Amino acid sequence: MFAAPRAKSVTAPTAVRLRVNIFRRGNVNMPKERTLVLIKPDAVQRGLIGEVLSRFERKGLTLAAMKLMRLDRELACRHYAAHADKDFFEPLIAFITSGPLVAVALEGENAVALVRKIMGATDPMEAAPGTIRGDFCERMRYNLVHGSDCPLSAAEELRLFFNECDYVVSGH
Ligand code: CMP
Repeated sequence: MFAAPRAKSVTAPTAVRLRVNIFRRGNVNMPKERTLVLIKPDAVQRGLIGEVLSRFERKGLTLAAMKLMRLDRELACRHYAAHADKDFFEPLIAFITSGPLVAVALEGENAVALVRKIMGATDPMEAAPGTIRGDFCERMRYNLVHGSDCPLSAAEELRLFFNECDYVVSGH
C-alpha cells in the first residue's frame, strides 16, 4: 500500500523565516514609502496640475499631503542646496520662486523610484515618451516636476515642506 511521505519537521525559527518569505513574495506587509513631488511653476502655469497628479494616481500612488504655495528664496535654496555650486543654481532658484507650485507627499510601495519612472529623465531630450517630461517638456530648466532622488532625500525634503499634522491618514 502507498504510504504518504512523512512530513519533514520544521524548527520554529525556520517556520518563521518561511512565513516571512511567503509574505514578501505576495507583497503583503510591504512597507509604504513617502516621497516629495513638486509640480513646478511651469506645470501650474500650463494648467497641467491635474494631468500630472492623475498619472501618479493611476499608477496606484496615493496623496498623503498637498499644498499650493509659492516658495520664497530661503526655502528654495534649502531645497536645492545640493546644487548650490552649479552654474544653473541661480536661474533654477529664480524659476522655482517665479510662481505658485504644488507640493505633494505621495505614498506607496517603492514610491521614490516609481515617481522618478513616471516623471522620466531630468533632461527632457532623454525622457522616454509616456513619461511626464517625455510627453510635455523640452527644456531642462522647465521640466515640470521634481521628485526626491532617494528615500533619504525624500525624508529630508518632506520635512522642509510638511509638518506631521499636514498628513491625512488614508482610508485605503
Ligand atoms: P529637479 O529634479 O527639480 O532637480 C534639480 C533641477 O535642476 C532639475 O530638476 C532641473 O530643473 C535643473 N537642472 C539640472 N541640470 C540642469 C542643467 N544642466 N541646466 C539647467 N537646469 C538644470
